[in-house]
Amino acid sequence: EEIPWSAEMATKGGYPHFMFKEIYEQPESLASTAAGLEPARLEAAANALLAARNVYIVGAGTSYHAGLILAHLLPRLKLTPVPIVASEYAAYEPLFDKDDFAIAVSQSGETIDTIKAVRAMRERGVRVAAVTNVVGSTLSRESDLVIYTRAGPEIGVAATKTFTTQVLTLSALYVSALRLLGYDVAERERELKAAPDLARRVVEKTAGTAKDLARRLRQKPSAYYLGRGAALPVAMEGALKLKEVAYIHAEAYPAGESKHGPIALVEEDFPVVFVFSDPATREKTLSNVAEMKARGAFAIGTVPARSDYAKKLDVAIEVPDAGELTAPIAHVIPLQMLAYFAAVERGYDPDKPRNLAKTVTVE
Ligand code: G6P
Repeated sequence: EEIPWSAEMATKGGYPHFMFKEIYEQPESLASTAAGLEPARLEAAANALLAARNVYIVGAGTSYHAGLILAHLLPRLKLTPVPIVASEYAAYEPLFDKDDFAIAVSQSGETIDTIKAVRAMRERGVRVAAVTNVVGSTLSRESDLVIYTRAGPEIGVAATKTFTTQVLTLSALYVSALRLLGYDVAERERELKAAPDLARRVVEKTAGTAKDLARRLRQKPSAYYLGRGAALPVAMEGALKLKEVAYIHAEAYPAGESKHGPIALVEEDFPVVFVFSDPATREKTLSNVAEMKARGAFAIGTVPARSDYAKKLDVAIEVPDAGELTAPIAHVIPLQMLAYFAAVERGYDPDKPRNLAKTVTVE
């Protein structure tokens, strides 16, 4: 009998799929990203950020979601974030001005929508900092300042490890701005430093529940992902992953807004995934759990371990407790796994999702 072997199997290091390997690699990719962050570059970007009139945060797909997490933090610095889906930049063009600053997030640095938005901004004098994973990419060459994530090559079409390294990098930028403003950031620095270890514990502790849950979602046509505050972009990313690789319709919504429409579809066993990553909004999110359960929803959630939130849900994925900057990283990992296992349960190859490309170079 022939032993099946391919170069692909070798590079996947024994893992069944690249997506699986890349989810499991996150402790390492976070560690190398943290080690590679250059304080001087972060500070240059943070200075430009603090001096800006408008702060544009631009990206596509998963990179846009990472940007939204930073956008959530900026009002605390009295800054005005303007999150822009790259392909929609045109409507914002009249705003672009030399007093503005932009952060362009792109794993590949080659997404044409993001590059075009950056070109339009720079034409009008906006200074642009790129956050990208690829040294020498078009975006890195066409930006005023570059901050690299060091996630290593990502082969799976659905972004996983590059998202969490983007979140870490953008959080480090936020902390750098806090430091420039004179805040004591020792605790936040410790939190960021502990991100790789946190990711390691999350991967170990949540895989089993995510796998069981994937089996229960196998036949579902649709699901909601709800969160408030900084948990909303995490919910958006979880929903995107489920659509991309498992082909289950998934819609993310601000939890509080879900009663204005989406709840109309909820009936017995309709899956609703609640993301409890944001400490500031957890209590309010509970009231949305109650509303959904009253309509028969199958209530799922990522909740902090050893908390009471688990009791309010039908299935809870307990996530090791994390500070507010790293909680998005901790809570998105089981959602990545859920999508991955749902794809496999449904018989799809998560590395080769239909109709999708790793990098989209057409408008
Ligand atoms: C494509 C990929 C996504 C990715 C997006 C942005 O749609 O399938 O996984 O998030 O492009 O890519 P970028 O390289 O700009 O981060």
